[in-house]
Amino acid sequence: MTLSGVARVAFVGSRRIFASHLPSMQSYTPAFSRQVHNPATGEVIANVSCMGGKETKDAISSAFDAFNSWSKLTAAERSKGLRKWYDLLMAHKEELGQLITLEQGKPLKEAVGEVDYGAKFIEFYAEEAKRVYGEIIPATLPDRRLFVLKQPVGVAGAITPWNFPLAMITRKVGPALACGCTVVVKPSEFTPLTALAAAELALQAGIPPGVVNVVMGNAPDIGDALLTSPQVRKITFTGSTAVGKKLMAGAAGTVKKVSLELGGNAPCIVFDDADLNVAVNGALAAKFRNSGQTCVCANRVLVQEGIYEKFADAFSKAVKNLKVGDGFGEGVVQGPLINKAALEKVETFVEDAVSKGAKVLLGGRRHSLGMTFYEPTVLSNVKSEMLVSREEVFGPVAPLLCFKTEEEAIHMANDTNAGLAAYIFTNNLQRTWRVSEALEYGLVGVNEGLISTEVAPFGGVKQSGLGREGSKYGMDEFLEIKYVCLGDMNRK
Ligand code: SIN
Repeated sequence: MTLSGVARVAFVGSRRIFASHLPSMQSYTPAFSRQVHNPATGEVIANVSCMGGKETKDAISSAFDAFNSWSKLTAAERSKGLRKWYDLLMAHKEELGQLITLEQGKPLKEAVGEVDYGAKFIEFYAEEAKRVYGEIIPATLPDRRLFVLKQPVGVAGAITPWNFPLAMITRKVGPALACGCTVVVKPSEFTPLTALAAAELALQAGIPPGVVNVVMGNAPDIGDALLTSPQVRKITFTGSTAVGKKLMAGAAGTVKKVSLELGGNAPCIVFDDADLNVAVNGALAAKFRNSGQTCVCANRVLVQEGIYEKFADAFSKAVKNLKVGDGFGEGVVQGPLINKAALEKVETFVEDAVSKGAKVLLGGRRHSLGMTFYEPTVLSNVKSEMLVSREEVFGPVAPLLCFKTEEEAIHMANDTNAGLAAYIFTNNLQRTWRVSEALEYGLVGVNEGLISTEVAPFGGVKQSGLGREGSKYGMDEFLEIKYVCLGDMNRK
């Protein structure tokens, strides 16, 4: 299938999804539509429906109805549907990658990599569907038997971000469907096309209409409808800490299960005893993935004084080689930022740092390509009180901070409300354990800058979130535990 084929699938997908969950609205024409832009060129690539509270309520009803039958299928039947969906995602890997580059901006190779990564969540949970085990508890009385059942929580509302238009959907929808839940997905308004294409492929895989629903458009109205509906029993969200807090408060009204994957402020600690090449390549990968627009991107590079100058020099040289451009361009590894607000935020953070004494080793300004391109940037002499150290920059800016001792590094690393990912570079085995245990983070990469995988638990501590995604632990977020006490066993 060509790119225009995928765009058509996305478009047809949107109509089929409406048709499947809005039976009374087969000829539904939305009152409003919303433009989707290519961030690299500013071109309008599609117009999608702008939905609100009414359509979200319809989607919730559709998911609620479908829950009855989907949750009653055998695990093997649900597993087959998921496996077929995985196969279709992989069969359309290139085209989905192109769609991601088109609406999100990341380089094509990275976008195709996201399809691989995203599809693997569906494959993994197709397998995990068959392993939702209950338990028998040794009884406290001879005539009793005590059981623990695990059952799907019900309809889940999944609110997903623009930085991974596919993978953040599959990481939520995969375990939800495996457990027997049905979902209403609200993708980012910046990247709805990948979500629509993925949902269309789910339908083609034989996952029944109503099991996966997509609503896009007016975020506050959609969010309110999901939060206030008693039929929605679970909210799963990836995005900013500020929005996560609002969702958590909103979910309290109907006491929903909530999992949140929120912002980070990842420290990347380079010790004197690190291998310089490993540290440079690892920090590069951790910082510049998706042009710095991931929650696990290194936000602060803490370098020990003995290796500081050597590291700063080698790292700046490596950053200088990063080719910036339209994600479809040959050899491009840094795309544009998602929008003007993101660009302005990066600018403000760099200006703040420079005004407080940071030194620009490389970059430090908008890229000559215009649009929302920003030069890959390295700042030295950065201090903990600067904005770049306190908050997530979410852009291609690497601030270097110097430290003297291991204790100081741990203190600096933990001195934040965030706690998602942290990275350390060292060749000392004892230090690896000591520091990994001392870091108040949900994920720690040791001598490695890219650590996300479908088989390991992903999630943060402190204000970086609640719950885990991926791995067997990701299933727990969509399950309720039911205790059953069987009495009077000895009755004849
Ligand atoms: C994110 O940025 O939220 C997700 C990053 C990842 O899955 O590695």
